[in-house]
Amino acid sequence: MDKLIITGGTQLSGELRISGAKNAALPILAATLLCEEPVTVGNIPHLHDITTTMQLLGQMGVQLTIDEKMNIEVHSSTITKFEAPYELVKTMRASILVLGPLLARFGEANVSLPGGCAIGSRPVDIHIDALIKMGADIQVEAGYIHAKVDRLKGCKLILDKVTVTGTENLLMAATLAEGTTIIENAAKEPEVSDLAHFLNAMGAKITGIDTAILTIEGVEKLDNKNIHYNILPDRIETGTYLIAAAITRGSIKLKDVRPGTLDAVLDKLKEAGAEITIGENWIKLDMHGKKPKAVNIRTAPYPAFPTDMQAQFTALNIVAEGVGTITETVFENRFMHVQEMQRMGANIQLESNTAICTGSEKITAAPVMATDLRASASLVIAGLAAEGDTLVDRIYHIDRGYDHIEEKLSQLGATIRRIPR
Ligand code: EPZ
Repeated sequence: MDKLIITGGTQLSGELRISGAKNAALPILAATLLCEEPVTVGNIPHLHDITTTMQLLGQMGVQLTIDEKMNIEVHSSTITKFEAPYELVKTMRASILVLGPLLARFGEANVSLPGGCAIGSRPVDIHIDALIKMGADIQVEAGYIHAKVDRLKGCKLILDKVTVTGTENLLMAATLAEGTTIIENAAKEPEVSDLAHFLNAMGAKITGIDTAILTIEGVEKLDNKNIHYNILPDRIETGTYLIAAAITRGSIKLKDVRPGTLDAVLDKLKEAGAEITIGENWIKLDMHGKKPKAVNIRTAPYPAFPTDMQAQFTALNIVAEGVGTITETVFENRFMHVQEMQRMGANIQLESNTAICTGSEKITAAPVMATDLRASASLVIAGLAAEGDTLVDRIYHIDRGYDHIEEKLSQLGATIRRIPR
């Protein structure tokens, strides 16, 4: 397995372009299954999860063409089967996002249940219960979701929990249902809104975008022509590089971003002592060479502080001035980066779903192991501030969600290199 070696101690500086959002690209590529006309999706990030999604659609018989600018043209009318096999789903849980579109457009879907995951059990019961309420016949057996329906029926859905991919699956399913669907307690993440705008571009009738109540008036088909939709910038990639600069007391400017999608993160960076300036599509962070101050974080659904930025802020807290608490309320096991950071000398006490971080004068490099996507990023960030060479193993996790991370960090002056297996 590839590894990354990071030599700590360099203050990051310079400019960087942020890629399109992984968590918008995945549902939007799944949503192309709903359209009877060819659709082009632009600003696609260069990630392993995108490759997996293309494999997933390709093995169904869907035609995909990708160009050098990472635009993907999708022709779903050549589809031959409605299946998401375990071999692919086990490598990417977000494969569940083909369930809603397949059922809505073709009336049939056989999707492997996503297995467990490092950060939590992550069931899909809300997805399934709501589709049954919309009239689908769903049997779960031998690890697969077998779903059939003549035509989904619109209805009122009140989701028990705020679920991002749950909202996305049901939003996609409702676009072709008979009658109107109302989704209450819907997720408001910017990636959900990006999907809704894409669906409307294909001819869907969705209102209430950016709110917790989405209303979808079902239509017979989605067949708008000549659609070219660009994915919104990745707010988590943006936040990750801002923290990389903050932990090294540096100063960077990020371009092609959407500042309004990460207010909670920017507020916490200001509390940590960063000077933040923003423009229409750029963010500048400057620590003026100062040590960051510890902050208290509590994750929750958007617009509150995002769980996908929790591990990265834990890394910032372990070298900050003072004591900061990190409380994780979304997933039940999202502190696996803690023991790896403790190997680097971090002073962290875990109490239930809270990590109490006491800033250390210094942390030292050590061989550490990535366990999930955002934990991996947090270990790279910690390595930027550690004395010596930190070796991060199992970085296939990173390649799923960060586009060319070592090139981007090197562009900002970091000393980082990949050791192929
Ligand atoms: C999405 O996962 C993201 N993935 C995750 O990003 C992100 O951490 C998460 O939302 C929360 O923001 C994609 O968008 C591809 P949830 P998702 O359904 O949709 C429970 C990353 O690092 N739940 O919002 O799977 C669930 O167990 C990844 O990019 C049910 O109980 O998360 C969790 O506790 C990691 N039943 C909570 O809801 C269900 O049917 C929120 O999960 C669905 C969810």
